[in-house]
Amino acid sequence: MKNSYDFMIIGSGIAGLSYALKVAEHGRVVIITKKQATESSTNYAQGGIASVMSSTDSFEAHLSDTLNVGAGLCRENIVRRIIEAGPECIQRLIDFGVKFTRQKDSDGFSLGREGGHTHKRVVHAADLTGREIERALLTSCREHKNITIRTNHIALDLITYKRDGISYCGGAFVYDPVNQQRLIIRASLTLLATGGAGQVYRYTTNPLIATGDGIAMAFRAGAQVANLEFVQFHPTTLSQIGKPPFLISEAVRGEGGILRTASGKAFMDDYHPMKDLAPRDIVARAIDSELKRSGHDTVYLDLQHLPADHIKIRFPNIYIRCLEAGIDITHDLIPVVPAAHYICGGVVADINGRTEIERLYVCGETACTGMHGANRLASNSLLEAVATAQFAASESIRDFKLGSAPEPLVLKFPHKALAKLPRERVMLSHNRRELKRLMWDYVGIVRTSYRLDEAASRIDPIRHSIDRYFFSHRLSEASIELRNMATVAWLIIESASMRKESRGLQYITDYPQLDDVNWKKDTILRKQGSDYVSTA
Ligand code: FAD
Ligand code: SIN
Repeated sequence: MKNSYDFMIIGSGIAGLSYALKVAEHGRVVIITKKQATESSTNYAQGGIASVMSSTDSFEAHLSDTLNVGAGLCRENIVRRIIEAGPECIQRLIDFGVKFTRQKDSDGFSLGREGGHTHKRVVHAADLTGREIERALLTSCREHKNITIRTNHIALDLITYKRDGISYCGGAFVYDPVNQQRLIIRASLTLLATGGAGQVYRYTTNPLIATGDGIAMAFRAGAQVANLEFVQFHPTTLSQIGKPPFLISEAVRGEGGILRTASGKAFMDDYHPMKDLAPRDIVARAIDSELKRSGHDTVYLDLQHLPADHIKIRFPNIYIRCLEAGIDITHDLIPVVPAAHYICGGVVADINGRTEIERLYVCGETACTGMHGANRLASNSLLEAVATAQFAASESIRDFKLGSAPEPLVLKFPHKALAKLPRERVMLSHNRRELKRLMWDYVGIVRTSYRLDEAASRIDPIRHSIDRYFFSHRLSEASIELRNMATVAWLIIESASMRKESRGLQYITDYPQLDDVNWKKDTILRKQGSDYVSTA
């Protein structure tokens, strides 16, 4: 059958592509991706992949740094397995053609350092690590006879059904906006690898595809989602009025960059013994606090004391992008502000990407495996994505060899064909703007109960307005994404409101202390009717 495969993968970032290359040795694979195949957060990753690669480093040190930053919520056994798989994952990427930067005059890798790491352990390809990984993995997928890549295909919902009390996933309902076609794509096994949700915030480093689709689809299908309050804000993005934030990698501070106020003060001394290389939540909050105190719009990153040639070689993309904005980073201070960057929570999965729904796997930023806890250590996400994709692929192959799952009895596309054309598009743009602003202003780096309550009461009418539009108009990519963004924003607000303490990335002024007695646990939500239940 044309639309029937052994393995269906939703998403063409590092998680989806790595998984594809392994399962394709055992069956027919389709990767669907909602834009061009390269369009993913992976493609924009700068700093690199954390892995123990030098004789002066150790798995124990990487483990300890990860647990320390994760603020009590990491699952130690999971962190250990992923970290120990690091060197093998790096080798696998190299085998697929990834060219990492080597140390000058040596066989070893050039290793970068980032916030929260006690050692240099970030393997990178200059400051375009993600682009290099995406290029190599996509080339290998395109050359593989068992892999079909369908671009401009957006998954709308998962095909899930119950048989004998067990929930199964058997593919996805998909929309092809170019041909305005609604498709039912069936598969024996389905992997959700749709990345993050940064677009729910007004300012984000994430590309436009990061609208939380996988989290929203899995939630609607009845899967558990966890820890969505832990949204990581990257401390340093180039501040340019009217332009989307451009990331200035933490590796820049790893090479010696210093954060300064407008008056020139190196303020990180006041906040943490690791100064500019303190964990990301601490640096982001420090900047937020300096901006609130001074009333200025930005702080500055200073590289003037570093050799100009070294900066240009180590950070060629950042150098060019800043130059285009009129800033020569070898001479000028870089104006920087924080922006939403990464969601530590996601669809609950075990180390092998297994969810509670049979034959549904999840990997990468969409998943919540217990690797990151309440805060992600820099450059651990590419590592988690590539390692868990390997584990999930092995487990999926085992499932596949067991034979097919029971078939669904009925398959009904979850949206009517003959609905109105998308008119009144202002409803989409208005609601999108309002939602992103609401999240930025009320559910940002520093939270208060008052603002969270206000956000909770405001998100409901926005969600209902988006749903009303969605079900009464012909499908469009914009309405599918906005519906998912509203679901994820609502879940972030609910999770943040539930957690009555400050831990990792959740800093709430009404509860400034860590409360291990009541809150050393995940915030787990599951759909119930049009609402949710907390299962933690
Ligand atoms: P992605 O790479 O985001 O891929 C998701 C894919 O799913 C995309 O192809 C998208 O189009 C597709 N998709 C989404 N929804 C749908 C749908 N409904 N239907 C069909 N397709 C869909 N992490 C590090 O460890 N080191 C770094 O140096 C680093 N730098 C970063 C820099 C930037 C600017 C950003 C934004 C993130 C960075 N991160 C870094 C985080 C890291 O890049 C991501 O967490 C990781 O790449 C996520 O990989 P993924 O495969 O899960 O998702
Ligand atoms: C960066 O290069 O600063 C991003 C690294 C990450 O998000 O892990």
